[in-house]
Amino acid sequence: MAGRKRDKAGRPGDRKGAPAKTRGAPHRDVTSKAGGKGGHRDAGGKPSSRDREPARKAGAKPAPIQVAAQDDKQASQLFDRPLTRHSGALPGERIPVILESLEDQGYQLLDSGNGEKLERYGPMRIVRPEAQALWPRRMKPGEWDNADAVFTGDTEEDGLGRWAFPKAPLGETWPMQLMGVDFHGRLTSFRHVGVFPEQLAHWRFMVDAIEARKGAPAKVLNLFGYTGVASLIAASAGAEVTHVDASKKAIGWARENQALAGLDKKPIRWICDDAMKFLLREEKRGNGYDLILTDPPKFGRGPNGEVWQLFDHLPLMLDVCRAVLSRNPIGLVLTAYSIRASFYSIHELMRETMRGAGGRVESGELIIRESGDDASEARALSTSLFSRWLPHE
Ligand SMILES: C[S@@+](CC[C@H](N)C(=O)[O-])C[C@H]1O[C@@H](n2cnc3c(N)ncnc32)[C@H](O)[C@@H]1O
Repeated sequence: MAGRKRDKAGRPGDRKGAPAKTRGAPHRDVTSKAGGKGGHRDAGGKPSSRDREPARKAGAKPAPIQVAAQDDKQASQLFDRPLTRHSGALPGERIPVILESLEDQGYQLLDSGNGEKLERYGPMRIVRPEAQALWPRRMKPGEWDNADAVFTGDTEEDGLGRWAFPKAPLGETWPMQLMGVDFHGRLTSFRHVGVFPEQLAHWRFMVDAIEARKGAPAKVLNLFGYTGVASLIAASAGAEVTHVDASKKAIGWARENQALAGLDKKPIRWICDDAMKFLLREEKRGNGYDLILTDPPKFGRGPNGEVWQLFDHLPLMLDVCRAVLSRNPIGLVLTAYSIRASFYSIHELMRETMRGAGGRVESGELIIRESGDDASEARALSTSLFSRWLPHE
């Protein structure tokens, strides 16, 4: 295995049978309907030779949070691992794919416009800035005035001070549910609300693939897992889950969500660690995962100050993700928010990473469409880029 230097750098329903090397007109995959299931049942194939590590058995006590010890090695040394040079053909491709999350009962994009969006998270109507909403609002001002919480961001302080409550003062959290899993919505000082509902499109695909597994439960690795909603949805579908995040606070929230969802007995390992370091260790240990979700921020820090820079570290991260895919993988799913890049940059990186592994890479944008009775009037908001490798063409 020689080292190689690289630069730092809908259609509704099932996609079975779609041509692998398709270009041109965008594909619209509408994968998330209220209460329903769409998506795929792809599983199988083999890009690496990693063995599967047994995880905790269902029914055991919830696992304690594992906090990574400070490493003797500097992160920069760990990251010296050269990129793997794979031979063989590039995987097939499907581009551009627009993955659209239609409303789940727990979430709706009610309206958008004038640089803001009005959403419903469970019982809460929330207004937040949305720079991409250049168009006018559809709803009457009274609907927007009826919001429960408005992100103002007008103080430097952490916490609720950056939110206004037009009707009545509210606490930081409230109960909500997506895909049948209960968790807490949460007003954060970064204007996030504890969940990214556009990811429902990936979660539908994930649940279908996990449920389609015969034999041993699917092993899912959720990197940059935040408040754990994807981990809980995977576990409730029957997967053994490893959840990694650098923030003890976020993992604490995820554990609260686990209890709220009644999933305490499900096999989830909660790991507070730098995502890159964790992956490199897993590679050394020879551990494998059937499905890897990675949702890296543009910039982040590990628990011991390790620096994550998407444009510097993503090629290595994907390379190691490939190395820790199991013999019978479901896929590798990457999302990227707020980066100045076209989906092509992560698409071509994913294809190079998976060279010789077969299957296909599909890439594009995750979007959310406004709800309402007149579908022809519903505008779509792009939320992020994604690229995912699937083992079947
Ligand atoms: C909010 S999520 C990602 C969502 C979305 N990609 C974004 O950029 O807004 C970011 C999560 O990554 C975690 N994180 C940041 N740097 C990390 C690192 N080096 N290793 C592991 N987790 C990290 C944060 O603690 C946070 O929970």
